[in-house]
Amino acid sequence: MQKKFSSDRFDPLSTVRDALSRRHFIKGVIAAGTVAGAAGLVTGCSDSSDSSGGAAGSVERLITVNVNGKARPVDVMPNETLAHTLRNKLGLTGTKIGCDRGSCGACTVMIDGVTNNSCSVLTHTLRGANVITVEGVGGANGELHPIQQAMIEELAPQCGFCTPGQVVSGVSLLQRNPNPTREEVRYALAGNLCRCGAYNNYVDAIVKAAGSA
Ligand code: FES
Ligand code: FES
Repeated sequence: MQKKFSSDRFDPLSTVRDALSRRHFIKGVIAAGTVAGAAGLVTGCSDSSDSSGGAAGSVERLITVNVNGKARPVDVMPNETLAHTLRNKLGLTGTKIGCDRGSCGACTVMIDGVTNNSCSVLTHTLRGANVITVEGVGGANGELHPIQQAMIEELAPQCGFCTPGQVVSGVSLLQRNPNPTREEVRYALAGNLCRCGAYNNYVDAIVKAAGSA
């Protein structure tokens, strides 16, 4: 007797088709992620939620920013951060980028005397502003700032990645308050994370430098 097949019988061809379409789907997801990551590298922006759209970041404008006492003309994108401009266009690589999102303080600079995370400030907003980076805190002839000297003497840095930010925060503190208490130093450095845990070393150095800065 001839065997009859039901309408929902196993269809090996359809199983193969399903597997192929899933594979295409997964490949598509991975490809999209790769493209998004590459776009982040090109624009220097790690946040894909940029509301300005792609075209807004594509036109450079010439502005002049005062950096460490010198007028520095520079072409900047509308979505370009000060940390990027300093490091990649002005050659001031003392400013470090750790998190690139305002959390770690490695990129700390002073803008008009106030400490800021340079990864979270758009350069084009700084026309005419005075920016001081770690390269600009010492003397005119290359002398170290007393905080830098004290950090050497106290062996404060470990890996050193956070050190420029710690220096700039310390210098800013001593400009406002030349004789801070240990607690006030801790408070001033609160935004500067140190993965090596060398917090006490940095506080020791700034307390040592206080009064001579
Ligand atoms: S790199 Fe700017 S706060 Fe971390
Ligand atoms: S010394 Fe290594 S992160 Fe601070």
